[in-house]
Amino acid sequence: AVDISRLRAETGLITLDVGYANTGSCQSAITFMDGEKGILRYRGIPVEQLAEKSTFKETAYLLINGRLPNRDELTRFSVMLNDNSLVHTDLKVFFQNFPRASHPMGILSSMVNALRSFYPSLNDTHEEEINITMTRLLAKVRTMAAMSYKISRGHELVFPRPDLTYCENFLNMMFDTPVTPYEIKREAVNALRVFWILHADHEQNCSTSSVRMVGSARVNLYAAISSGIAALWGPLHGGANQAVIEMLETIQKEGGNFKNAIDRAKDKNDPFRLMGFGHRIYKTYDPRAKIMKKMCDELLEALQITDPLLDIARELEEVALNDSYFVDHNLYPNIDFYSGIVLRAIGIPTNMFTVMFAIGRLPGWIAQWKESMDDPKWKLSRPRQVYVGNTEYDYVPIHAR
Ligand code: ACO
Repeated sequence: AVDISRLRAETGLITLDVGYANTGSCQSAITFMDGEKGILRYRGIPVEQLAEKSTFKETAYLLINGRLPNRDELTRFSVMLNDNSLVHTDLKVFFQNFPRASHPMGILSSMVNALRSFYPSLNDTHEEEINITMTRLLAKVRTMAAMSYKISRGHELVFPRPDLTYCENFLNMMFDTPVTPYEIKREAVNALRVFWILHADHEQNCSTSSVRMVGSARVNLYAAISSGIAALWGPLHGGANQAVIEMLETIQKEGGNFKNAIDRAKDKNDPFRLMGFGHRIYKTYDPRAKIMKKMCDELLEALQITDPLLDIARELEEVALNDSYFVDHNLYPNIDFYSGIVLRAIGIPTNMFTVMFAIGRLPGWIAQWKESMDDPKWKLSRPRQVYVGNTEYDYVPIHAR
């Protein structure tokens, strides 16, 4: 690795790397990715094994603490999550005052930032209090997401129950009503578990880099996570899962004819992109998308759901993977291509898809923030630029312009 600060001091040169495509911003021991081979590991454990055997809670612990918990540690972690899962009822007022049409990601980002004001005496640098903040976020963001959905529907709030698992609790808070008690289906819980594990971390992606960069100014963790949520909202990042479904719905309305979408994606004069395709790092099939695609098939079969969007997605994938444009550009399905169909099958409304991603990514953001705070080589993030504006010229008074 080159010491850029030294190089600059010695030569006066600045590296220009638009979009940081080849710039390492930190050293990290959390997530390993190999984009050529399609490998993803959390703390060394292949994501395939975690998706098969772990729980979301355990994976969160692994990411944040660097190793799998033993039985006692997991129990303590579960108790802490349960103890912190309620939110202050005053937050309900905040939620109710957002315009009805607000996007849930905007609401979530604001609410997470606002959450800090409910703990005025919090010491943001004290280790024990940081631990509580991390657990509080993991527990409450899930509750707040379900709460925002209930309020948007005008329904009574459902509180978290200590007898339910992390995933069961979320589904129950979302869908249980006094009139129709929610039946917690094993298949839906499993799908959510896998969905969240697959989203739990992805090294220095846009939202995680936001969390690290904002965090580097030593803001509190709530503010740093709030910035991550805002970044994730974008359609080129976490917002892609919603954009994929909207694209598939448009194709469905056009009678299932996806030629238009393929042609538009290839047209360099059209900003349209095939959503759910392509990745900055993966130049092969996204390993998460492989798991998601398989789960999508199994889930729909188990729940006996026929979703015409799945047929369109499968056909679209086949056509794209045999098209020289997509082959030459190494464009394969990413995690978002099939994840929306999974979420639809378990009843999640489209505008909540990116919120689901945010809940899943939370352990990763927290782990990355913690790693950066503990890094003895920590530095305030402050990229440089290559100035291409005007050279010096004199101020002209308004009457003379
Ligand atoms: N459809 C059509 N063309 C594409 C697509 C796509 N989905 N993705 C990339 N390309 C093309 C670009 O037009 C460009 O072509 P050119 O070299 O001929 O000009 C080339 O592939 C490289 O594209 P870049 O934008 O430079 O690659 P980058 O690494 O920045 O893009 C990104 C990654 C943003 C994810 C891109 O593939 C994309 O926009 N995909 C669609 C949105 C999406 O699915 N996002 C989710 C990503 S996964 C996640 O965040 C969880």
